[in-house]
Amino acid sequence: MAQLTILEYPDPRLRTIAQPVTVFDPALKRLVADLFETMYAAPGIGLAASQVDVHRRLLVADVSEDKDDPRVLVNPRILEREGAQVYQEGCLSVPGIFADVERSNRIVVQAQDAEGVPFTLETDGLLAVCIQHEMDHLDGKLFVDYLSPLKRAMVRKKLEKQRRQAAPAAASA
Ligand code: NI
Repeated sequence: MAQLTILEYPDPRLRTIAQPVTVFDPALKRLVADLFETMYAAPGIGLAASQVDVHRRLLVADVSEDKDDPRVLVNPRILEREGAQVYQEGCLSVPGIFADVERSNRIVVQAQDAEGVPFTLETDGLLAVCIQHEMDHLDGKLFVDYLSPLKRAMVRKKLEKQRRQAAPAAASA
């Protein structure tokens, strides 16, 4: 296993639209293991392959307190969504920045596991937020895109300042 380098906003590679995963081979399982290692080390609650410059449609997540509920979603697709919730999100690609984002409260998502076996997951709360956040990454979208242009400009400024000072370890997805 290896820890991978996480791309940081405004790196243009984060805007890449990820392609579907079609081959479920040992290399994919290695990538999944590396994504988990990178996510847990960060520490974060979710990580999309796009964030480590691998533009394939897969993400990992673990929103549990004890970090014992690892989830892998390959080629995820939202079948149903319901309600709304606002959560203060962060992102490993936008370190140290947190902002309220509104997302669906309950989602039904169809995906495949690392072996290619399809499954359906119905979830709400934080896991639903996390999955929607990570799925945005697969489409080249970041949570700061939901903020006003003014707020986004402030985020950029704050990040530049942080980088000049030395990057702090930030939480999130
Ligand atoms: Ni993120």
